[in-house]
Amino acid sequence: MNDDIDQVLIGRDDLDRRVTEVARQIAGDIGVAASGVGAAEITIVPILTGSIIFVSDLIRKLPLPMQIHLVSVSAYPGRSTRSRGARIRSQLTSLPEDLADAHVLVVDDILDTGGTLGIVRDLVLRSRPRSLRTCVLLRKRRPAAMAFPVDYVCFDIPDVFVVGCGLDYNGYYRNLPDIVTLRQEVTAGADA
Ligand code: IMP
Ligand code: MG
Repeated sequence: MNDDIDQVLIGRDDLDRRVTEVARQIAGDIGVAASGVGAAEITIVPILTGSIIFVSDLIRKLPLPMQIHLVSVSAYPGRSTRSRGARIRSQLTSLPEDLADAHVLVVDDILDTGGTLGIVRDLVLRSRPRSLRTCVLLRKRRPAAMAFPVDYVCFDIPDVFVVGCGLDYNGYYRNLPDIVTLRQEVTAGADA
């Protein structure tokens, strides 16, 4: 697996440092918003599967009472390195119909075209949350991603295909602890 790596773009220590920083910012913002009238709840909506590593790191740095509702979206089926359009595959734990008391934080691994975050945001909005924020580990420096409204971004990266820390190619490499690019031979034949 390590032989397939071309370059390490973001190492594990930098990831950890930045996630801590962003968690502090989120805890501050939501903490303030939630300190008003009534028992405000925080609901984390991780987008599967790519966000699993990031969200587990992030929420352990958020000292706030929270619930978690998973949603599953697919945009990069199989051996593709370009988005094929985002689609909701399943809601593993269905979102409550009424999120009126909840401050919702939608979490994804990477913002590329914005399709994925867009459909999940629309889905959550139907449950009328008290507030809605979005957070991604990575954002690609490409016009569609930079123009897409998102509240928290840990890192902006070049417009290249990356894996690790939850991100996959054809289902693999999610467990790599750094954000890396793959050697060209590995993804040769992708998007054919
Ligand atoms: P979007 O819907 O085009 O914004 O793409 C977001 C989704 O596509 C993410 O949740 C990822 O699962 C996947 N994705 C986008 N770029 C990459 C990448 O460079 N590597 C792996 N997955 C990616
Ligand atoms: Mg994903």
